[in-house]
Amino acid sequence: MLVSPSIVAASPLKIQDQVRECENAGSVSFHLDVMDGNFVPNITVGPDYYEFLRSISRIRIESHLMVMRPDLYYRKFAKEGDLVLVHYESPVNTLALLKRMKDEGIDAGIVINPDTSFSKVSDLLEYAQILLIMSVYPGFSGQKFIDVSDKIHEASAFIKKNGLKTKIEVDGGINDNTARIVKNAGADIVVSASYIFGGNISERIRILSSI
Ligand code: DX5
Ligand code: ZN
Repeated sequence: MLVSPSIVAASPLKIQDQVRECENAGSVSFHLDVMDGNFVPNITVGPDYYEFLRSISRIRIESHLMVMRPDLYYRKFAKEGDLVLVHYESPVNTLALLKRMKDEGIDAGIVINPDTSFSKVSDLLEYAQILLIMSVYPGFSGQKFIDVSDKIHEASAFIKKNGLKTKIEVDGGINDNTARIVKNAGADIVVSASYIFGGNISERIRILSSI
């Protein structure tokens, strides 16, 4: 299993050390939760934090844009090698946005909330390197995992059948137990905040990676 630590859960006082620890433990990317207090009922960080994180980290940053207008902001999170995740539920035309990002050479992914069915985004997958399936309602870390196994199965079967390269990532309530559930359903990558940063970081990344 590939692991993407949700970095806003790291300790601000130890951020550089924790970034290095996550990298050394084999994280595939950093997951940056960007919330605007409008699309979701919480506010986190924005482009300046992305720039800061970019300056201290050596691996990919995937920015999870939980904002009303991803079309106005995606370029601020799109340095070469990084990836931008946009919500299908945001009030913009996500197919047009993904196509535009592809034209601009920006790596992109599409995100769906727990109550959005996979069929809504199946046509978008050819423009998305990642399909991020939320296993909590976005807004806060530390929430209880919602079992989205059926949706992961469906997406996985569709990707195989159509010869697509899209990776399936799952975000929300991931720990050593729930990671096993999503792995069995066909997930390639997990995001984790409270599990990884609520204990021994290296150990927990290694546990998730070995699943
Ligand atoms: C939720 C965020 C998640 C969150 C995960 O809105 O998108 O990435 O930080 O937190 P945990 O792993 O604690 O559920
Ligand atoms: Zn997230």
